[in-house]
Amino acid sequence: MKIHVYLTHTQPAPWVDGLEAALPEHTVALWSPGAGPADAAVVWAPSQDFLDAQPGLQVIFNTGAGVDALLPLRWPAQSVLVRLEDAGMSVQMAEYVLHALVRHFREFDAYDKAQPEARWAFRKPRQRSDFPVGVMGLGVLGERVARAVQGFEFPVNGWSRTPKNLPGVRGFSGDAQWGEFLAASKVLVNLLPLTPQTENILNRANLSQLPVGGYVINVARGGHVVDADLIDLLDSGHLAGATLDVFRQEPLPPEHPFWHHPQITVTPHTSARTLRDETIAQIAAKVRLWASGTPPEQLPGVIDRQRGY
Ligand code: NAP
Ligand code: GLV
Repeated sequence: MKIHVYLTHTQPAPWVDGLEAALPEHTVALWSPGAGPADAAVVWAPSQDFLDAQPGLQVIFNTGAGVDALLPLRWPAQSVLVRLEDAGMSVQMAEYVLHALVRHFREFDAYDKAQPEARWAFRKPRQRSDFPVGVMGLGVLGERVARAVQGFEFPVNGWSRTPKNLPGVRGFSGDAQWGEFLAASKVLVNLLPLTPQTENILNRANLSQLPVGGYVINVARGGHVVDADLIDLLDSGHLAGATLDVFRQEPLPPEHPFWHHPQITVTPHTSARTLRDETIAQIAAKVRLWASGTPPEQLPGVIDRQRGY
């Protein structure tokens, strides 16, 4: 089997070396224009030119969990797209969300402000029961985050497309229970894939249904948020704050108001990074499964193109 590597975000050489070491019975090569045909590709942000030059590809392994940027491309008709499943991302996501949640709940921003003034300024303890956490998306990452939040004894709500029955998580699903889920969640954590159904979901109409003092943690995609609506709801006092890791345009442009808004914390799309060794091990395991007879469309992590995730 021949595998082409096409990665735009990082130095590809260690990936090629790592995949070669993990798959010695296959041929792994860095793709360049004019390279011959391959059976599979390992990609991040592939160009249309790359896909057009590879009409024989059967499996395309994405080195990330979200495939929203890839789905609009034209793909070889027979190819399947396989996403990354966890590979060390879920524990990172859990620690990021916990950090944002605890920082807000325990008012660490207030202590950060007090220290330069040498002010010994206690904040009154707050009740966990007043901070139910609503996790949008209960997939690989959302489920792990819900468990981590539970471990800190916050009430946890979860919302997904299909009903779920996770121990200790109050489950909501579909459009019918969306409003009820929002009204029951003081801290909203977004871990949905970006699809036509979920784009702009964090808009004024929806965010207004959070209780007054609501807090938003967006770790999924910038396209979920209507930026101006979020800012209006923070300025009006309906929302207390937001921690945002993902943006419509990345890097977030220096002139974007999110950078300087006093109630917004910005991080540079870093909540759950792709880890090279774990990712190579996962892709190599899926290549071996395929080589041993599993049809590509039955590989774990295959994207349903109709559904968009
Ligand atoms: P996943 O396993 O596919 O889970 C997606 C979840 O969203 C599922 O529970 C699914 O419901 C739910 N969902 C999808 N469409 C929905 C809809 N219209 N209404 C309600 N629920 C819906 O995905 P994952 O691996 O957890 O990753 C989630 C997203 O995180 C990725 O798509 C990516 O955008 C983002 N991400 C961000 C970073 C970062 O560093 N910021 C890193 C990795 C991933 P069902 O279970 O019913 O299908
Ligand atoms: C990162 O955002 C990913 O989707 O893996």
